[in-house]
Amino acid sequence: MVSTINKKAQIIGREFPMTDRDFTRIRHIAYEATGITLSDHKKNMVYGRLTRRLRRLNIDRFCDYCDLIEHRDAQELSYFVNAITTNLTAFFRENHHFEYMKNVFIPELIRENAATRRIRIWSAGCSTGEEPYSIAMVLKSFPQLINWDVKVLATDLDSDVVAKAKSGDYPMMRIDSVPREYKRNLQFDNETEQARVKDAVKKFITFKQLNLLHPWKMKGPFDAIFCRNVVIYFDMNTRKLLFNRYADILSESGMLFVGHSESLQKVSDRFISLGKTIYRKKT
Ligand SMILES: C[S@@+](CC[C@H](N)C(=O)[O-])C[C@H]1O[C@@H](n2cnc3c(N)ncnc32)[C@H](O)[C@@H]1O
Repeated sequence: MVSTINKKAQIIGREFPMTDRDFTRIRHIAYEATGITLSDHKKNMVYGRLTRRLRRLNIDRFCDYCDLIEHRDAQELSYFVNAITTNLTAFFRENHHFEYMKNVFIPELIRENAATRRIRIWSAGCSTGEEPYSIAMVLKSFPQLINWDVKVLATDLDSDVVAKAKSGDYPMMRIDSVPREYKRNLQFDNETEQARVKDAVKKFITFKQLNLLHPWKMKGPFDAIFCRNVVIYFDMNTRKLLFNRYADILSESGMLFVGHSESLQKVSDRFISLGKTIYRKKT
């Protein structure tokens, strides 16, 4: 006869026992540390990603691993956070945003910011860097901006992806989605099958590790924030707080770009929808 305890331990009956209680603890720690809500169907994913840590630490049981991160072992908590984030991204992902930037938003900013000659854009949840590099490539395509003060801030919670983003190196297949007009911003190495973002694009961007739920050191104002495919992992309350803070740090009538499955409906009334997941702050 299989006891209840054994059954629970066998939720995922593989190398390490992970009980319902372990998963609840993991879920709680993840929420506290990142705002990410892990639903039941993420159990297998969480198991797969964390077992590597258990092996590395020579820990046999998830309950012992939970003890470790609950007691705020800072180094391990950082590995844990990096393990549970989902970092899927691509160059010029949801390209209609970059088309809008090129055809409407930047020409508008060039007129509106003519006095200050300053542009600030934030890629919040930048993952491995494809999003901020896409933004910088569009900015660089405007010769009128040559003597302007133009900066892109790119931040993510996951320190591994920020390090990768900083390097600007990508396997050749990752750059397939870069439109032909922007390919000249990359250097190719056929031997290693790697592409490297050129310094002329990199110079626009500052990469930083930042938890969006913590206090922000930067003051803004930003002309635009890209926060795409990040809040899908957050609950309603966290979204409300975050979008309110975005409205505060955006310039008057600043722009907000969100992911294809994200909407501000019932989340914030401080933005007007321009369609296609593009929003403008209400004045
Ligand atoms: C799916 S990626 C989206 C990347 C890019 N914005 C895009 O749309 O292609 C989501 C990113 O949000 C980051 N993230 C999740 N929670 C975060 C938090 N609390 N603070 C900052 N970044 C967070 C993850 O580390 C991950 O790299």
